[in-house]
Amino acid sequence: SGSPRPRLTFLGTGYLGATYAICFAELGYEVVGFDVDEAKIAKLSAGSVPFHEPGLDELLRRNLASGRLRFTTDYAETAEHGDVHFICVGTPQRADGMGADLSYVEAAVSGLSQHITRKALIVGKSTVPVGTAEWIEQLVGKHADPELGIEVAWSPEFLQEGFAVEDVLRPNRIVVGVKTDWANSMLFAAHKGVFDLAATEDREVPMVVTDFATAELVKVAANAFLATKISFINAMAEVCEVAGADVTQLSKAIGYDPRIGNRFLQAGVGFGGGCLPKDIRAFQARAQELGAGEALRFLHEVDLINLRRRTKVLQVAADLLGRRFGPAGPDLSGTKIAVLGATFKPNSDDVRDAPALAVAALLRKAGADVHTYDPQGNENAARALPTVTYEDSMNAAVQDADLVCVLTEWAEFRNADPVALGEIAKGKKVIDGRNCLDNTAWVAAGWEYRGMGRP
Ligand code: UGA
Repeated sequence: SGSPRPRLTFLGTGYLGATYAICFAELGYEVVGFDVDEAKIAKLSAGSVPFHEPGLDELLRRNLASGRLRFTTDYAETAEHGDVHFICVGTPQRADGMGADLSYVEAAVSGLSQHITRKALIVGKSTVPVGTAEWIEQLVGKHADPELGIEVAWSPEFLQEGFAVEDVLRPNRIVVGVKTDWANSMLFAAHKGVFDLAATEDREVPMVVTDFATAELVKVAANAFLATKISFINAMAEVCEVAGADVTQLSKAIGYDPRIGNRFLQAGVGFGGGCLPKDIRAFQARAQELGAGEALRFLHEVDLINLRRRTKVLQVAADLLGRRFGPAGPDLSGTKIAVLGATFKPNSDDVRDAPALAVAALLRKAGADVHTYDPQGNENAARALPTVTYEDSMNAAVQDADLVCVLTEWAEFRNADPVALGEIAKGKKVIDGRNCLDNTAWVAAGWEYRGMGRP
């Protein structure tokens, strides 16, 4: 039966698993985090989070000290500890670019199941194609002792990088896909800390209990909706550009309608990161396999609109620098361009599928001398895109530049002084790829300003 405080494990201590492991220890659970990567486990055990997430380091150290949290590379130890095991390993994009690669899920589930010696619940959390929970059930059946009656469930997560601690401790909903009352009550117990915290703050966290397929779909549907919302406003930006309208005001005006809402309605260089782009592609591939490809054809368009924003920056750059577009794109040789931002969004060091980095690559390919600066992302960016120059400060990047492109809306860039930057730049031309600058102030300081979807 669902004991009030089941012991938890999280398999895969990447971004998702590490954050959950640490936050659930903070909520009072006895937690083990597992990973096959010894270096990662050593780092976490020593009290250091291997990625950038505000507030997480402190929680890690506190909970290691409390004895409620430990990390291991040993399946047997993980199996022995847990009443509820959460699978949080990565599901990267397959080499063919569309579907999801489930080999890490398979390794984690089979590695764990072989060592389990009592009834337990295995809960999938990674973003996966619908149907994966059923497949995991079969995997468990193949590897575990059938006498134990190990069960499977699904519980998607919705955390946003930069807000992950809050999103785990104070989620706006908990979704579980289950087949039995036992699994349901175990999952309720495994989240009781979240419900209790909410109660002390006079909030309620709704819990949606459903079947496997629905729980799996909730996750991709949510991300598909968010991606669509962003591409919608970027499509409006394209129309604004030819109509001489201002998408920032349009966005504000339609966002006042609560049925539309103003969040995730910022036009710019589009969405990136490890989730939205990959998820909408994998979702299309899965729908196609299931015979509902047509239903998600619009997501292909969402993807194209998003990618078009990157080329748009290249076009505006060529335009501002007085360069013509040849058949192979513009020739930007002999120009120096400052690219401010490399991460896919501020307050993160994540450069996966980052629009800023993609644009930097396009500018470089067109022959420009590109100098990039990102407050947190330089190191990851240099590994992903070694062909541009990385600078240690905004000023170093802007020094003698013919053009400045702001592509990630870090506060440091939003608050930058256009007068001071104007003194060190060579050409006072700026592309505001996130519509995040105070355009009046920049224009007043003598800059030629170009936003996205603005006259
Ligand atoms: C996204 C979802 O927001 C989370 O709910 C989900 O759990 C997560 O993916 C996941 O699947 O794990 P995340 O990738 O951290 O979270 O990033 P977002 O904050 O959603 O931003 C995604 C991208 O959209 C960024 O590049 C951001 O700059 C861009 N964006 C966002 C816009 O261009 N305009 C907006 O109005 C909002």
